[in-house]
Amino acid sequence: MPQNDKQTLTHRASRFATTHIQYQSAPLFLMRQQLATILETARNAAPTILSRAEFETFKAGIAGPNGSLTAAMKSMASVPKDERPAVGKLLNQTKSEIEKIFANTLARIEQNEIAARLGAPIDPSLEPPDVAVGSIHPLTQTREEIAAVFHKLGFTIADGPEIETEWYCFDALNTPPDHPARDMQDTFFFPPATRCPDAPKHATEAYLLRSHTSSVQIREMLRRPPPLRIIAPGRCFRRDTADATHSANFHQIEGLWIDENVSLRDLKCVLDFFAREMFGTNAQIRLRPSFFPFTEPSFEMDIKSPNLGRLSDRWLEIMGCGLVDPNVLKNTGHDPTRWTGLAFGMGIERIAMLRYGIDDIRHFYANDLRFLRQFA
Ligand code: PHE
Repeated sequence: MPQNDKQTLTHRASRFATTHIQYQSAPLFLMRQQLATILETARNAAPTILSRAEFETFKAGIAGPNGSLTAAMKSMASVPKDERPAVGKLLNQTKSEIEKIFANTLARIEQNEIAARLGAPIDPSLEPPDVAVGSIHPLTQTREEIAAVFHKLGFTIADGPEIETEWYCFDALNTPPDHPARDMQDTFFFPPATRCPDAPKHATEAYLLRSHTSSVQIREMLRRPPPLRIIAPGRCFRRDTADATHSANFHQIEGLWIDENVSLRDLKCVLDFFAREMFGTNAQIRLRPSFFPFTEPSFEMDIKSPNLGRLSDRWLEIMGCGLVDPNVLKNTGHDPTRWTGLAFGMGIERIAMLRYGIDDIRHFYANDLRFLRQFA
């Protein structure tokens, strides 16, 4: 093509363009271009935005005070009056497109945030990785078994407060003020101003954390007249340094049977039955003379059984017991010439340890599943 023909073509093209611009008007044309660029840039950038911070920057770049769309809107001022409706319409269209882009981008970011918080998707129809269901704690199991044994003999469950008073825990149980169990070193006392509506006081005595469940004997004897036959399982507290056989917090089961003519023979029968139910039909019992302020005579009971693994065939001390001291009957308003009784008290931990061959009391409180699962 000759050189001047080319020029002619260029010239024609530019003339055509000029005509075209004139047809649309210059401001409208420029604005259309400017807005198309803004929209396209936004469309391309939107999918790359991943965080709220990025989104805010993106939004500010378009619609913020120095944003591209804001600038376009400001340039309305230089548009001739008769062009303004058309330019305004174009601006509004673009604005609503941009708003859609903003809304979609933000919705996508929010979705991602929720997904991130929820973590990897799960399949609820899959089996759980840990199919083991929970089980009853060995101390609870032991408590229930002991209760079931005494239930067969007509004992029912009685309950008493863990925060007790000195009178119920000691005085009424014939325990003199100078008895070592009342020592601050053994028993947790509360400050004098303490109030505890669950455990009404006898007089003005101090509150303490009960050091044995024998206090329930007193509350029960005051609550209802004999004959009565109860066991009282519960938590006790003593100032002990934790080691393999001691814990400042442990559990006991108290037994009390008050009736006419309850004798030592009954005590032996009840405890013999208990030993054979808990430790096998070949279990034997032995009562050794001992002392408790609230029983007379008092004994330590030992058991011997061939079914106790490495503890088999040895005498093992398992509880204190005796006949209810007449003073305890008097203190609770009962005539000791008419009523007699037997009482016993054992540590639930001790029974469970002997039965299962557990050598450290702390296992019961450590919540180690490797230990607990063995009792499932
Ligand atoms: N309360 C005693 C103790 O904690 C046990 C016991 C209860 C002894 C009942 C005799 C009668 O050691």
